[in-house]
Amino acid sequence: VGKYKSGIKVFAPATVANMACGFDCLGFALNQPGDEIIVTLNDSRKGLKVTEITGAGGKLPYEIEKNTAAWAAHCFLESIGESDRGIDMEIHKKMPFGSGLGSSAASAVAGVFAVNALTQQHPFTKKELISFAMDGEELASGARHADNIAPCLFGGITMVRDNSTLDIHRLSTPRGLHATVIYPHVEILTKEARGMLSKEITLKQHIQQSSNMGGLIVGLYNGDFDLIGRSLQDVIIEPQRAKLIPFFYEVQEAAMKAGALGCSISGSGPSIFALSANSLIAEEAGLAMQKIFKENKIRNELYVSPINQEGVILL
Ligand code: HSE
Repeated sequence: VGKYKSGIKVFAPATVANMACGFDCLGFALNQPGDEIIVTLNDSRKGLKVTEITGAGGKLPYEIEKNTAAWAAHCFLESIGESDRGIDMEIHKKMPFGSGLGSSAASAVAGVFAVNALTQQHPFTKKELISFAMDGEELASGARHADNIAPCLFGGITMVRDNSTLDIHRLSTPRGLHATVIYPHVEILTKEARGMLSKEITLKQHIQQSSNMGGLIVGLYNGDFDLIGRSLQDVIIEPQRAKLIPFFYEVQEAAMKAGALGCSISGSGPSIFALSANSLIAEEAGLAMQKIFKENKIRNELYVSPINQEGVILL
């Protein structure tokens, strides 16, 4: 009784990185799924402790220096001189991991956002929390990327122009834009999905990809769905990674036939995302995509969501 009297609960959403033409730069947030973290002050001992993890099938470690959420929180607490503060952390994974939906970013963001809200001594802005969340993400993926962290923190569609200087911008979301995401139960390791990429691209590929990214951004600002549709194409990464996802091209075709503006791999996969001009098309695209996996007996999860505009929130 009274366990949560001095507690804070937060929700951090799943995110879709790359957005077809914006490899390692673009990302957007979904309303669902996401992670929940509860932190409570515990004066009976010192330091941060992970007291409970649910929804992870025993696959996540309790040690601070190995746990994405706890490590991000720890790095923050150290920086404000509060690492001795007795804090209990419960992690409730409510999204699949290794899915290409920014699961480690959601944990890292939730962890640091929660302790920032709990300690309150030096409340940091979301922008100031980015680098601590990246500490957590780095632990999980080995890379210091903000393409999932940024939309998870801020919500909306974000662009990371430069990771090292945290030159990060939120883009406009046109009215009606909806996302469909399907997660087939196949395992892809981000490290491998990155390791397999060719280090070289042709001048032609560079021109196509950067033109598409420019077109996408103009389309988002002008609410020009046709331009968004023409621009949602990945001529560099998708052709290399598609073979990791069974029936990828069939699923993509099904989404496009249902009227989606574009469809590609979410992050490093195996999830596949589509964007549509309204929720009806997004739902129809989802059913069409799901049909392919069902026919081929591949278990999957389907999510249809507007672009989440809030990012991580206190519940
Ligand atoms: N942009 C990364 C990739 C995934 O596609 O490998 C998330 O950081």
